[in-house]
Amino acid sequence: MKKMIFASAIAMASHPMFAETLTRETGAPVGDNQNSKTAGATGGTLLEDAHLLEKLARFDRERIPERVVHPRGVGAHGYFVSYDDFSDVTQASLLAKKNKKTEVFVRFSSVIHSKGSPETLRDPRGFAVKFYTDQGNWDLVGNNLPVFFIRDAMKFPDMVHSLKSDPVTNRQDPNRIFDFMAHHPESIHMWTHLFSNKGTPRTLRGMDGNGVHAYKFVNQDGMVQYVKFRWLSQQADKGLTAQEAATIQAKDFSHHTNDLYQAIQKKKFPSWELQALLMDPKNLDKFDFYPLDATKDWNCEMKLVTCKTLGKMTLNRVPENFFQYSEQSAFSPAVFVPGIEPSEDRLLQGRLFSYSDTQRYRLGVNYQYLPVNRAKTPIRTFNQDGVGATLVARDLSINYQPNSFDGSLKRDRGTLAENTEYRYSQSRLDGKTQQKMIAKTLNFRQAGELYRSYSDFDKKHLIMNFAGDLNQIRNKKVVEQMVAYAYAADIDYGTRLAKATKTKLSKVKKIAVQIQDDPKKTAASFNKIPV
Ligand code: HEM
Repeated sequence: MKKMIFASAIAMASHPMFAETLTRETGAPVGDNQNSKTAGATGGTLLEDAHLLEKLARFDRERIPERVVHPRGVGAHGYFVSYDDFSDVTQASLLAKKNKKTEVFVRFSSVIHSKGSPETLRDPRGFAVKFYTDQGNWDLVGNNLPVFFIRDAMKFPDMVHSLKSDPVTNRQDPNRIFDFMAHHPESIHMWTHLFSNKGTPRTLRGMDGNGVHAYKFVNQDGMVQYVKFRWLSQQADKGLTAQEAATIQAKDFSHHTNDLYQAIQKKKFPSWELQALLMDPKNLDKFDFYPLDATKDWNCEMKLVTCKTLGKMTLNRVPENFFQYSEQSAFSPAVFVPGIEPSEDRLLQGRLFSYSDTQRYRLGVNYQYLPVNRAKTPIRTFNQDGVGATLVARDLSINYQPNSFDGSLKRDRGTLAENTEYRYSQSRLDGKTQQKMIAKTLNFRQAGELYRSYSDFDKKHLIMNFAGDLNQIRNKKVVEQMVAYAYAADIDYGTRLAKATKTKLSKVKKIAVQIQDDPKKTAASFNKIPV
C-alpha cells in the first residue's frame, strides 16, 4: 500500500485503493494535486487553474495575529465536578449540586514570548479555564502565580512594552524591564514569586492556578461575598532550577506540551481542586492592605477569610486539532454566569474590556461561535451578522426591544425577554470620582513573608535568578532601587541581593527607609540595623 501511494505522488495521479477523494473547498473533486495546468510543456502556468489559486490563496492566509500577550500555549479538554451544593454562597448553577459535572476547556500559556518560543523560559504561566455551564460559559482566566506586578489597568500596556522586545533591537532587555519596575515597588511581591523556581515550572500538570483578583459570589437572595479562586494541583511538583531549564531547552522547546499530551494519552489524567477564599464585603476596610489590590494575596489563615473546596477538575482529552482549539480559544474575565461577578479591583476592571476587544480583532466579531468558544446552552440574542456569521437566524422579524409582543400568542413564538431574576447584584456607592492611588499600599510585607517561607535552597535560587537579571543592568540606580524593595521586604533578602549584585548596602538601606509603607515598621526600626 505504502509503495502505491509513493508511486502515485511521482507518476500520474492514480487513486489509492482506500483513500477518499480530495476536494476543493467548494466540495468539487480534485483531479491533479501535483501538477499545475501549464501552457504546453514550456509555457507559463494558466490563471484558470482554480484549484492552484485557491490552494495558494488559502495558504497565504493561514496565520492569524498571535495573542498580544500569552501567545505560547497549549490546551486540553476535561470536566469539573462540584463537591457539594454551594447555593448558600452562589447561584452559579455549576456549583448547585453535589457531583454536578461540567465540561471544561483549559489553556495554559506563557505571557511574553512569541508563539514558537521555548516553554522553558522564565515567565508567569496563564491558567485559563472555560466552564461550559448549563447557564452559559464561565471563564476563570488566571495565572500560576497568585499576584501581579501592578494594580491598575492604566499601567498594563506600558508594563507589557517594557517586558516585550526592544522595538529597535527586537530583544528582551532587563534594562528596559527594570527601568519600568523600579518605578513600581508593588512589583517586588510578584518578582519574589517569579524569580523563584516557580518561574520555570517543571510541568504544567504540577502548577497551581490562581484567579489573582477578588471576584464576587452572589447567592439567590442577593447576598454578596468577595471570592478569590485557587486551583490546587494534585500532581504538585517543584519548578526547574535555571540549570535544569537550560539543559531541557537545549533539547526540547515543547517540554510542557509534550508532558501534558503524553500524560493524557497514557490516561494519567491531571487534576486540580478548586478552592474559594471568601470575604464579607463589610470587612473590606479591616485589613492592613486593600484586599482588592491584585498585588496582594489572601490565605486561609487570615482571620476574616474563610475557605471552601468547591470541586475537582480533571483533564482527559487532547484536542483533535491545535489551531481549532488552543489557538482559537478565547477567554475573558467578562465571561461570567449568574452568581459570579467581577469585583471593583482596578486591574480586573480594565481586563473586562480588553479580552473581548482583542478577540474581535484576533478572531473576528463572531469568535463566540467558534466550536471551542461556543456555549453549550442555546444562544438567544439580538446581536447579529458581521463577518463569518453562523448563528442561524430565528424565524422571527422581531430582533429589537422593546416590542409589542410578549410571547403569549402563538405568532409571538421566539420573542425574547429579559428575566429580572438574573440582574447584577447591587452595591452602595457614595463620594466623588477620583484619579488617585489606593491608600493602603503595603508594598513589601507580603513579599517579606513569602521570602521567609522559602527553604534555604529556594532562597538561594531566588537570589541567583534575580541577580542574574539585575547584573545585566547598566543604570546602577535602577539596581539600587530594586534591591531596596527586596530590603524593605526582608533585610536578609535585600542584604543577599545587594551582595550578589555588588550594590552598596548603605545606599540600599537609605532608600528602603524612605519607601517603607508598613505601619508596623518605622524608620527607627530600620536605623537600628547595622550596615
Ligand atoms: C491574555 C490583557 C492582566 C491572565 C490576555 C490577552 C489580553 C490581555 C489582551 C490576549 C487575549 C486573547 O488574545 O485572547 C490583559 C490586561 C490586563 C491583564 C489589559 C490587566 C489590566 C492579566 C492578569 C492575569 C491575566 C492579572 C491573571 C490573573 C491572562 C491569561 C491569558 C491572557 C491566562 C491567556 C488566555 C488564553 O489562554 O487565551 N490578557 N491582561 N492577565 N491574560 Fe491578561
